Amino acid sequence: MGEYIIECEHIDKSFSGVRVLKDVSFNLRAGEVLALLGENGAGKSTLMKILSGVYTRDGGSVAVFGSRFGDLTPKEAQELGIAIIHQELNLCSHLSVAENIFLGREIIKNGMLAKSEMNKQAAEILGRLHIDMAPDAIVADLSVSKQQLVEIAKALSTNARILIMDEPTSALTAKEIDDLFGIIRKLRDEDNCGIVYISHRLDELASIANRVTVMRDGSAIKSAPFAELSMSDIISLMIGREIKEKFPRVERARGKKIFEVKNLSSGAMVKDVSFELYEGELVGIAGLMGAGRTELTRAIFGIDQKDSGQILLNGAEVHISRPIDAIEAGIVLAPEDRKKDGLCTRLSVRENVALPNLRTLCEKLGIVNRRKENDMVDKSVKNLSIKLSTPEINAGSLSGGNQQKVVVAKWLAQDSKVVIFDEPTRGIDVASKVEIYSLMNELKMNGIGVLFVSSEMPEVMGIADRIIVMCDGRVTGEFLSADATQSKILEKATQFEAKRNTERRDAA
Ligand SMILES: Nc1ncnc2c1ncn2[C@@H]1O[C@H](COP(=O)(O)OP(=O)(O)OP(=O)(O)O)[C@@H](O)[C@H]1O
Ligand SMILES: [Mg+2]
Repeated sequence: MGEYIIECEHIDKSFSGVRVLKDVSFNLRAGEVLALLGENGAGKSTLMKILSGVYTRDGGSVAVFGSRFGDLTPKEAQELGIAIIHQELNLCSHLSVAENIFLGREIIKNGMLAKSEMNKQAAEILGRLHIDMAPDAIVADLSVSKQQLVEIAKALSTNARILIMDEPTSALTAKEIDDLFGIIRKLRDEDNCGIVYISHRLDELASIANRVTVMRDGSAIKSAPFAELSMSDIISLMIGREIKEKFPRVERARGKKIFEVKNLSSGAMVKDVSFELYEGELVGIAGLMGAGRTELTRAIFGIDQKDSGQILLNGAEVHISRPIDAIEAGIVLAPEDRKKDGLCTRLSVRENVALPNLRTLCEKLGIVNRRKENDMVDKSVKNLSIKLSTPEINAGSLSGGNQQKVVVAKWLAQDSKVVIFDEPTRGIDVASKVEIYSLMNELKMNGIGVLFVSSEMPEVMGIADRIIVMCDGRVTGEFLSADATQSKILEKATQFEAKRNTERRDAA
């Protein structure tokens, strides 16, 4: 067993008087992957930010490689060999992949940025990680999954000895996750790195975790070898109770057809897509990352231009060229990248929830009715069990999972007919996932048509009434969930990809 390379003792941290870390002791050995688990808001990211110099602590001490340190700055942490992959993407989107990888450690030659040298080294790093990406590509043009890979490449490029990964796989494809796990094993077994791995995808842990530390409400309540705990032990440690039903399903006869997309094409990623949605129906859109599902939601919502096709609501065509057209028609979208598209991170939770609802909250003269607003916000916070000290807190300072709940909350207060969710449970803990499913069920019971994109196959099969499968920008399959199996969905989700690979092989 490796020696301890990080030892934290009695760490305390409060934000505006609210104690979020309480006397936390935590350690990490060389040559191990330690899974740090806990519900949304348990304090995982905060503890890791203290270790990487982002936050200062109120009490307690930290030792790295046996030496005690006061508060670290991010630079000192980096020099000690600590690298962190943050939960939320932290890239400069207007810069290139290489410029992001070398941010703050740019290669300078003759007083000038050595761009070609940085591109060369970045290409090497990307190659080592089997990431297929041009080093000079601009980050803004990349998908969320590719951006997440850039974050990973950036952290690994520093030759860190201690690697903190805060939800690194939340937007990766199965293949990318496999590659990443290969890299993690190599770093652990050959390079003797210590790795802290935070994830809400508990099924991943079996393939990499050596040890588990569980946090609950700001305290570290248990550390044990992974093999000693069962999955249900871990879940009950995390949430303090057992979950009865992972996928609560409610039955409702579907009503009349309310929504229809006809031959919709948009850009390169949405090709001739048609489907229908009925009142009180919950439809899941499955597919692999890059299948065009997010682009489809963007085209419907009027973020991206439609090249051709129609959208019908209750049989009548609606013209959506901007999101406001969609919102006014009663079609709303909870997007995938909450930090960038879903929230105003510098506004309070109250303001975020109220923002799309101002029309109902305003009095005649355009003044917000504070009582109504507070009622609405309190109700949303309660319904979704959003963990916060006060709704006046900046949305950006909530834990990742709780930010996601706010994105969902602001639309739930609306009087909508069609609600579209793009990866609604990304980064959400097991118990809160069930809350989000219950919410979708509630919308469905109220006669709303619910459409959700998800890369988690068990989730799609578990709660959707009907499943639409996309591949390469097209709809390739459709199943009633009673008839769906994982392999049937996968077959449709890879249809064009398989064809392309065969063509490529034939051409070679
Ligand atoms: N900058 C901040 N200002 C105020 N409160 C904060 C700040 N950062 C974190 N918090 C609060 O600290 C608590 C712990 O948050 P943290 O992000 O560490 O949770 P987490 O375990 O990482 O959750 P998740 O799984 O959702 O990412 C939360 O209640 C959060 O709102
Ligand atoms: Mg977190």
